[in-house]
Amino acid sequence: MPWADSDATLAGIMRIIRFIALFLCLVVLAGWVALWVRPDLLAMLRGPSNSLVIPGSVAVGGPFALTDHTGRRVTDTTFRGKWMLIYFGYTYCPDVCPTELQNISNAIDLLGPDADKIVPVFITVDPARDTVAALADYVKLFDPRLVGLTGSDAEIAGVAKAYRVYYAKADSKNATTYLMDHSSFLYLVAPDGSFRALFRQGIGPVTMAKALRARFDGS
Ligand code: NI
Repeated sequence: MPWADSDATLAGIMRIIRFIALFLCLVVLAGWVALWVRPDLLAMLRGPSNSLVIPGSVAVGGPFALTDHTGRRVTDTTFRGKWMLIYFGYTYCPDVCPTELQNISNAIDLLGPDADKIVPVFITVDPARDTVAALADYVKLFDPRLVGLTGSDAEIAGVAKAYRVYYAKADSKNATTYLMDHSSFLYLVAPDGSFRALFRQGIGPVTMAKALRARFDGS
């Protein structure tokens, strides 16, 4: 009975296809769950440096002139001789900025004696509300080593442009309680002022410390 044989063959093929489809679904689901539970896995997959790859043609960073949280005027050259780990955000940020600043503080703690080699820098993208006084109150919540920087709208726009940071008011209707949209990366600048690495937000203190140490050793 040839028709019965071909039916059986067809049923067999369908079983295999169903099995493969189910298997692929499970692989995708497992991958998604893994990245959701451990976002740093993605950074690990990218390689031992844990940094995002920037095309050579894309320049990141450069000169800036801003005011720190003590009211002192500073420029990029003020920080020469130390590594800088720069994060852009704003003090009214409800979640991402505080989490990231705490991660930075914890990562630098993990460096032990090498912590002296690096200055964590927080540059506001909301200079209207993040005055010198507001920044002073804010940075001390996280780390005494953290330097808060603010400036005029033009100064902030300039440094954000140099570091290719996106920021915008999320709700411009309200003058005081608005949120800001902003990109959230960590920029590592070498003691000579050259941009060295871009880290994704959320890599966590352990991975961050490891990546920083690798850069220190490599320089
Ligand atoms: Ni934020």
